[in-house]
Amino acid sequence: MKSILVLGGTGFVGSQVCEKLAQQGLCVVLPTRRSSNARHLQHLPGLTVLEMDVHDERALSQAAAGQDAIVNLIAILHGDAAAFDKAHVVLPQKLARVCQAQAIGKLVHVSALGVNDAQPGAAPSEYLRSKGRGEAVLQRAAAESAMELTILRPSVIFGAKDQFLNLFARLQSVFPVMPLAGANARFQPVWVDDVATAIVRSLERSINSPSGAPAVRILEAVGPDTYTLKELVQMAAQLSSINHGRGRPVIALPDWMGRLQALLMEKAPGPTLMSRDNLDSMKVDNVATGTLPGLEALGITPARLEPIAREYLRKTPRA
Ligand SMILES: NC(=O)c1ccc[n+]([C@@H]2O[C@H](COP(=O)([O-])OP(=O)(O)OC[C@H]3O[C@@H](n4cnc5c(N)ncnc54)[C@H](OP(=O)(O)O)[C@@H]3O)[C@@H](O)[C@H]2O)c1
Repeated sequence: MKSILVLGGTGFVGSQVCEKLAQQGLCVVLPTRRSSNARHLQHLPGLTVLEMDVHDERALSQAAAGQDAIVNLIAILHGDAAAFDKAHVVLPQKLARVCQAQAIGKLVHVSALGVNDAQPGAAPSEYLRSKGRGEAVLQRAAAESAMELTILRPSVIFGAKDQFLNLFARLQSVFPVMPLAGANARFQPVWVDDVATAIVRSLERSINSPSGAPAVRILEAVGPDTYTLKELVQMAAQLSSINHGRGRPVIALPDWMGRLQALLMEKAPGPTLMSRDNLDSMKVDNVATGTLPGLEALGITPARLEPIAREYLRKTPRA
């Protein structure tokens, strides 16, 4: 039976990936910093949870031993340059070495829409620049080996457990107005189930590359519709019936005020909801470039946001 190492498998997307792999009768090896993070997946047949530090290359190598493929979903959204580098560049470097040393045949790496292909360093945020450097590391590794590499670049991902529409709904259930930075930034939200299916199909379907060329496929994972951030905030309220579906007044903040708001949110105690780096990411539209294949290349027709979000947002009681 095939076995897949899923890095970041306890997370929003990774949990769906683990479920789909288990449904297909595959074994899943799931490293995590805390085994309690994998509690919701313990019921899956063929699942092995490893409490470990994936940044420890020896431990990573041991976890990868005997695996048929690796999926990498580890990423951070907030942090300083060193933290982004560690998660998005140094870890892929370790992964590349492990894959080469152990002749791992397939790697699926989840990156992000907005990576600048021509000049990775010119992307507007540290998140996107580091994601671009991580992709480059893995592409070089694929060029030097027989490994098949799929890179998925999703726009913002929605689903019942997202930290995106649910957050906008939660904030509007508490606050009377929504001061919003980056209100006109554009997104093409993609369903978590479609992203997870794309990952599983990437493992199943070989890459047809011309002989001698690296086996690399890069896909943009987007949904069929484009929305501004303001439209998404308003839709979250409407679908959650906040203020009788009217939501709260959305006040688009000028750049300087948005940055001040993000700075205050970075300094506030508790989990960071927004950072200046997130705002920088929104300087480029988070929509497909059209120069790369989409999910259709894997036989997936991306789902529309509204009918799905309506289902899960209406189930959550709000003020
Ligand atoms: N969600 C989106 O809207 C979105 C949009 C575009 C791209 N993506 C990309 O899709 C991938 C999956 O995203 P997601 O939303 O599923 O992420 P997530 O829910 O935050 O999960 C990420 C996982 O990575 C692990 N992790 C986080 N920080 C780590 C660290 N410093 N060291 C080691 N492990 C760490 C965590 O596992 P443990 O806590 O169990 O160790 C966590 O389960 C990421 O590459 C992300 O950049 C996501």
